[in-house]
Amino acid sequence: MTQNKNILQDRFGRDHTYLRISLIERCNLRCTYCMPEEGVQLSPKSHIMTYEEIYEISKTFVDHGVTKIRLTGGEPLIRKDFPIILEKLAALPITLSITSNAVIIDRFIDVLKANGVNDINVSLDSLSKEKFKAITRRDQFEKVYDNILLLVKEGFNVKVNAVLIKDFNDNEIIDFINLTKDLPITIRFIEFMPFDGNKWDLSKMVSHADVMQYVDEAFPKTDVIRLQDAPNDTSRNFKIKGYKGSFAIISSVTNPFCDSCNRLRLTANGQLKNCLFSATESDLLTTLRSGKPIAPIIQRAVAAKLKMRGGMDTLEKLQEPKLHSKNRSMITIGG
Ligand code: 5AD
Ligand code: SF4
Repeated sequence: MTQNKNILQDRFGRDHTYLRISLIERCNLRCTYCMPEEGVQLSPKSHIMTYEEIYEISKTFVDHGVTKIRLTGGEPLIRKDFPIILEKLAALPITLSITSNAVIIDRFIDVLKANGVNDINVSLDSLSKEKFKAITRRDQFEKVYDNILLLVKEGFNVKVNAVLIKDFNDNEIIDFINLTKDLPITIRFIEFMPFDGNKWDLSKMVSHADVMQYVDEAFPKTDVIRLQDAPNDTSRNFKIKGYKGSFAIISSVTNPFCDSCNRLRLTANGQLKNCLFSATESDLLTTLRSGKPIAPIIQRAVAAKLKMRGGMDTLEKLQEPKLHSKNRSMITIGG
């Protein structure tokens, strides 16, 4: 049932064709920038979408024009019914991808392939075992690193996400880029962003400009090639001449890409967020459970989307804890 009216277009003409769905609020790692030390208040199990509900909601989005769905978490793979969810969603006419910390992804190679998943984003913030443990509060570096190699060997398109934190892992930027010499992966450096409880401050952030300074010092200018970015890409892409892989910078703080934003987010408890930074949410799950149509709620949520970063359109506003702490912790939004 395709409708003519484009309910996924907002006041600024942005078409939201990309839905990111968080399947679970829990994770088998504890990244400091993602979850507060004291943990987060988890939704009661009955408030978490079932796989049937995930399918129903996704189907409505797809009927209205969504063409791409990414499954996130928490860690999506620790959800028991992950294979069923994948199978159900793979029946929709979409590109299906996942973001994972890769700790247990070796057990899912077949199921991912069988359901047409080709693009996998893996979070890895350090190439040092000790630092990995410090940031994730878990000792799983080898597992993750070996699984990245496995994914490459199995032919997946792998992007490795590294959140940069000043004086912690910025000295590894070049080591990460050097990984792309022989590995056909993309390393994406992400500016550290403020979320509830993650002890953000601007001085901990490593900016796009900082990354490029490291790159300029390590490589001759003529070897650093600026690649064409895909439409709606959130990253600026580069490669080092002759290297198999590439690297990219995601600068949501110093250079947001809100103008071309095409994404909406659905949290594991069925709330639609029209922006990663939005403090308000629209309850799709309660409406679905009451048997009413969710399309009008989606339409209203999209129409209410603000131009930039959920209204935090300046660095000053982004730095204001009163503003960014109204949002959730990243673990319950989905990376
Ligand atoms: N800043 C930037 N990126 C973050 N992520 C989680 N928390 C933050 C943050 N505070 C992203 C990382 C991680 C994914 C799951 O979410 O890219 O890989
Ligand atoms: Fe888990 Fe990803 Fe959050 Fe780390 S960043 S705690 S891997 S959801």
